Amino acid sequence: MDRGGRPDRAVRRCHHAVDPLRGRVFRPSSDAGDLPEVPRPYRCIPPIRLEHAGRGLDPHGSGGAVMAEFEATVFDAPTERIRQMTAVIRSALTGLPSPRKMLDLGCGTGLQALDLAKELPDTAMVGIDVSANSIAAAKAIGDLSGRCDFRQADYMAFNEGPFDLVVTDSCLQWIEAEDSRLAAKLATDVAPGGLLILTMPERCGFNLALFSVRRILALLRSPLTDAAILWLARRLHPHHDPAMLRQRVDYMYWVPRRLWDHAFARMLADRKFKVVSDEPMTHASLGQPKHRTVVLLRR
Ligand SMILES: C[S@@+](CC[C@H](N)C(=O)[O-])C[C@H]1O[C@@H](n2cnc3c(N)ncnc32)[C@H](O)[C@@H]1O
Repeated sequence: MDRGGRPDRAVRRCHHAVDPLRGRVFRPSSDAGDLPEVPRPYRCIPPIRLEHAGRGLDPHGSGGAVMAEFEATVFDAPTERIRQMTAVIRSALTGLPSPRKMLDLGCGTGLQALDLAKELPDTAMVGIDVSANSIAAAKAIGDLSGRCDFRQADYMAFNEGPFDLVVTDSCLQWIEAEDSRLAAKLATDVAPGGLLILTMPERCGFNLALFSVRRILALLRSPLTDAAILWLARRLHPHHDPAMLRQRVDYMYWVPRRLWDHAFARMLADRKFKVVSDEPMTHASLGQPKHRTVVLLRR
């Protein structure tokens, strides 16, 4: 936001670009439920970026490419996903003292933190995301609790821990750092006795096949492949908000840097994290990797 309370320049540009299309492109989300709506100016369709056509993002050698891509994106979590995560978090916290300080790492447009603020009335929430547009959207939603603080930051450069609870849905796999550095940072940021609740794609045949397809798509990327992916997504998910489907087109070309597997679990175990539960997350789409939701206690 600028000082006049208007969205910043990048978001305003986005707004203007999409405004003439709005009548055609946007329709009310079918799963809006009782979650706050993201204001329309922020639910913009990011432009298709021709300069990325034919470029794949290698999980271990993209050298900042993924981070640069994320900075311009906006990511809303679907309502069912937020509810599922909230239920996991509620159950993990049963019998534990209420967390004083929570971090939502890679919070997107902040819907998860805003939902949790209702469940955790004594908790100060910090949501960080590397995407300026997502953080602008999170701030614009309006935090009724007055306890959610959304900030644009790269996690590896964010030093405001420790937290009693760190929640991170579908973000750890994208963070540009060696696994060991990431595990060490998480160990610094989760206070002893605190919880890390993560959702990550797992190492399984389905995901490895999907990522091979994504690598090929990345080599072929053009406005035509973007349009074909969006067309297919609309056919497979006719009841989903088209803007939300559009937000996911970029992901169909990206391969995560890491997966939830024995190696990453062992790295966290070496940093005093103990797995409390490890469950599959609902698999909502053929284009989406299979995720696991893991609750870890920091000893
Ligand atoms: C798949 S989205 C998930 C967003 C949200 N957690 C949700 O479930 O809706 C992944 C998010 O991680 C963010 N992200 C990626 N790398 C990051 C980093 N190094 N630091 C902070 N956020 C990052 C992206 O900008 C993006 O919003």
